[in-house]
Amino acid sequence: MCGIFGCTSLREGVSRIIYDSLKKLEYRGYDSVGLATTYGGHIFVKKDQGRIEEVEGKLEISKLPGRCGIGHTRWATHGAPSKENAHPLTDCEGRIAVVHNGIIENYLELREKLASAGHKLRSRTDSEVIAHLAEEFLSRGLTIEEAVRHAALSLRGSYAFALISALHDDAIVCVRMESPLVIGISRDFVCCSSDVPALPPDVESVVIMNDGELAILTPQAVTIRDLGSGQQLPLKLLNKESIGGLVDKGGFAHYMIKEIREQPQVALNVISAPRAFILRLANELVKSDRVYLVGCGTSYHACIFGSYLLRLMADIDAHPVVASEFHDSCTRITPSTAVLAISQSGETADVLQVLRALQDKDVKLLALTNVMGSSITRLASLYVGLYAGPEMGVAATKTFIAQLLMLTRISIEAARIEGVNHDLTSSAERFLKSSAPLIEKAILVNELQTKDVAIDLASKTNAFFLARGINIVTALEGALKLKEISYIHAEGYPAGESKHGPIALVEEGYPCVFVCPRDETYNKIIGNIMEMKARGAFVVSCVEEGDKDVKEISDRTFVLPEIEPKQLTPVLHVIPLQLLAYYAALARGCDPDRPRNLAKSVTVT
Ligand code: AGP
Repeated sequence: MCGIFGCTSLREGVSRIIYDSLKKLEYRGYDSVGLATTYGGHIFVKKDQGRIEEVEGKLEISKLPGRCGIGHTRWATHGAPSKENAHPLTDCEGRIAVVHNGIIENYLELREKLASAGHKLRSRTDSEVIAHLAEEFLSRGLTIEEAVRHAALSLRGSYAFALISALHDDAIVCVRMESPLVIGISRDFVCCSSDVPALPPDVESVVIMNDGELAILTPQAVTIRDLGSGQQLPLKLLNKESIGGLVDKGGFAHYMIKEIREQPQVALNVISAPRAFILRLANELVKSDRVYLVGCGTSYHACIFGSYLLRLMADIDAHPVVASEFHDSCTRITPSTAVLAISQSGETADVLQVLRALQDKDVKLLALTNVMGSSITRLASLYVGLYAGPEMGVAATKTFIAQLLMLTRISIEAARIEGVNHDLTSSAERFLKSSAPLIEKAILVNELQTKDVAIDLASKTNAFFLARGINIVTALEGALKLKEISYIHAEGYPAGESKHGPIALVEEGYPCVFVCPRDETYNKIIGNIMEMKARGAFVVSCVEEGDKDVKEISDRTFVLPEIEPKQLTPVLHVIPLQLLAYYAALARGCDPDRPRNLAKSVTVT
């Protein structure tokens, strides 16, 4: 995870540009922050543990002198969150500084070699070896560019790093290997960044680096080389607007609530997204004997939903698999198998690992992602975008809705190609067309109610989210949202299964959130509510308009528009659960955009 940013400019004040961009990268990690610049043949470094604004308050990192510098916001992997382990990390003499995102797998071996060659390593990170390796190769007479190239060739693992040297007042050398890195070019400066939204507003064109490339940036030029051979490669410039715009909170207190409120617009985007690629993807699925939908976290929940719909609507043998558990022992890969990887960021290492492992095999690799130009789009032979716009909150909300709606569109196309389930597909299509106002209503009607219930929930330590059928997805997602941003322990569970163990935890006031649309599971779930009530549970239920029975036995209800087909009810029923998590986090004094220990893109396996 971690965010890296570097900038080399014709003008003074580069540290302010780096600081502003680091704020936009903070969603990638916020254990520590640091900045280094070159000025008058010296490197200046300021860094500390803590969030960017705290560190700025203490150290004024945005006021470092110079026209060239690098910055870092950290999600700790190797080495505790501390000042010593904060980036930028330097070589023995403090004449090279580096910021790194990713993991250097052979760092222990490299540390040992460097230490026995006399290098003094001061941090516990894997990243510091990069600075010392570059120092070592420089001392053997190589140019900075060649020293960095040789240093990178000594590394194993996934990394993107940027490095400055006191020898060059205006150059940044950066390398990408399985961790994201883009270059932004403006009239006055050239910069490199872990992602596109963090690029400053005046950037006009963008270069998306490929794995195995090294770039040398100066204010006047960008040179890309192949890491292995050192040969210069052609520069592929893209217009920044074509790959995603800039993001701010638009007057909202947090990105998360802004993104929840954007969901009606996201629905419109998904339903008006061009049909051609969706159709091609559906065609590939239909031609396959078996499809594995692979993802992590919220995207895995979308995989469960998508597998269910593809089976039900298009008779496709589809199975959800958690990416980190995708092994030969639980999957059967043949030439007619397809793997559909789902990832908001397109950079989740567990998902990329599955695709990389299958790359040379005879299997179709497909993807659904929100980030065009992300690693997943290069590994898949065919991909479809989510059209949700940049999502900055660590908790996925609008991209989940986009995933559910896009999977619905794909399933409709697949069913049409197969010529099956006409009634169900027409009904799903009708729902899609009206989904934006329905989502809008689900948000508006439940805003106050969720705030209210969140206050009750804020004092609890545990909660169950229970459902049956397709809404098990909703229960899992509701529980994930609550636990990740409010730190209340929450479990999503099949309601029918809850009596086989979990019910033992239920006592007076224990929160149980039920998802209860009037589908074929309705009567059974009433039975499950009664079981929990009999043990004193505090029952909160998501119900459809006009519901009487569940309402009567629940302590609180969230009311959602009634829709057909019922298989698509997760699209609406998850909305009050997103709001509930958001307001519970606020009620507990937690920052919903920056939950502890988490980061937006998880680029480690
Ligand atoms: C979602 O709220 C979580 N922060 C997390 O589970 C996330 O969905 C997961 O890390 C997968 O990310 P991706 O969709 O970018 O691959």
